[in-house]
Amino acid sequence: MKMYKLMLGLVLAGLVSLSAQAIEQRDYHKDVIGKDCKSCHDQGVKNYPSDQACLQCHDVDELAEETARSEEDKWQNPHNNLHYGKELPCIECHGEHKAKKPICSNCHTFKYDKHKE
Ligand code: HEC
Ligand code: HEC
Ligand code: HEC
Ligand code: HEC
Repeated sequence: MKMYKLMLGLVLAGLVSLSAQAIEQRDYHKDVIGKDCKSCHDQGVKNYPSDQACLQCHDVDELAEETARSEEDKWQNPHNNLHYGKELPCIECHGEHKAKKPICSNCHTFKYDKHKE
C-alpha cells in the first residue's frame, strides 16, 4: 500500500511538472501560432510534425526562390539542393523547441547566414 502511494505520488508529480514546464518556442512562431500545438503536431504531440503541417503555411517553391544562390552555388540551396531537391522534410534542418543546425552542416561548410537556429 505504501509503495502504491509512493508511486502514485511520483506519477502525479511528473504530470504536474510536465504541464507546468514552459516549452520553448521560436520567436517567429510565438505570435502567429501561440499555444496551438495542433497546428504543427498533426499526429499528436507525442509525434513529430509531418511536413504537411509546415506546408499549410509555408510554400516550398517560394522558399526555394527566397534562398536561391548564385548559379555556381545553385545546388547548395537548402530548399532545392543537390541530394534531395525539394523533398527533404523541414524538421531535418529547423527545430522548434530546441536549436537545430541544417543537416548539410554534418558534411559541408556552406554558409547559411539567414538560418535561425
Ligand atoms: C500556422 C502557420 C504556420 C505553421 C503551421 C508553421 N509556420 Fe513557420 N512561420 C509562419 C509565419 C507566419 C512565419 C513568419 C513569417 C515568415 O518568415 O514566413 C513563420 C516563420 C518560420 C521560419 C523563420 C523564417 C525566418 O524569418 O527566418 C521558419 C524557419 C519556419 N517558420 C519553419 C516552420 C516549420 C519547420 C514548420 C513546421 C514544423 C512551420 N514553420 C509551421 C507560419 C507557420
Ligand atoms: C511550429 C510548429 C510547432 C508547434 C506550434 C509546436 N511544436 Fe512541438 N515540435 C515541433 C518540432 C519541429 C518538433 C521536433 C523537435 C524539435 O524541433 O524541437 C517538436 C517536438 C515536440 C516534442 C518532443 C520533444 C522531443 O525532444 O522529443 C514535444 C513533447 C512537443 N513538441 C510538444 C509541443 C507542445 C506541448 C506544443 C504546444 C504548446 C508544441 N509542441 C507546439 C514543432 C512544433
Ligand atoms: C552524409 C554527408 C552529406 C550530407 C548530410 C550532405 N552532403 Fe552534400 N555531398 C556529400 C558528398 C560525399 C558529396 C560529393 C563530394 C563532394 O563533392 O564534396 C556532396 C556534394 C555536394 C554538392 C556538390 C559539391 C559541392 O561541394 O558544391 C553540393 C552542392 C551539396 N553536396 C549540397 C548539399 C546540401 C545542400 C546538403 C543539405 C541538404 C548536403 N549536401 C548534405 C555529402 C553530404
Ligand atoms: C536542408 C535544410 C533545410 C530544409 C530541409 C528546410 N530548410 Fe528552411 N532554411 C534552411 C536554411 C539553411 C535557411 C537559411 C538560408 C540562408 O541562410 O541562405 C532556411 C530558411 C528558411 C526560412 C526563411 C527564408 C527567408 O526568406 O529568410 C523559412 C521560412 C524556412 N526556411 C522554412 C522552411 C520550411 C517550411 C521547410 C520545409 C518545407 C524548410 N524550411 C526546409 C534549411 C532548410
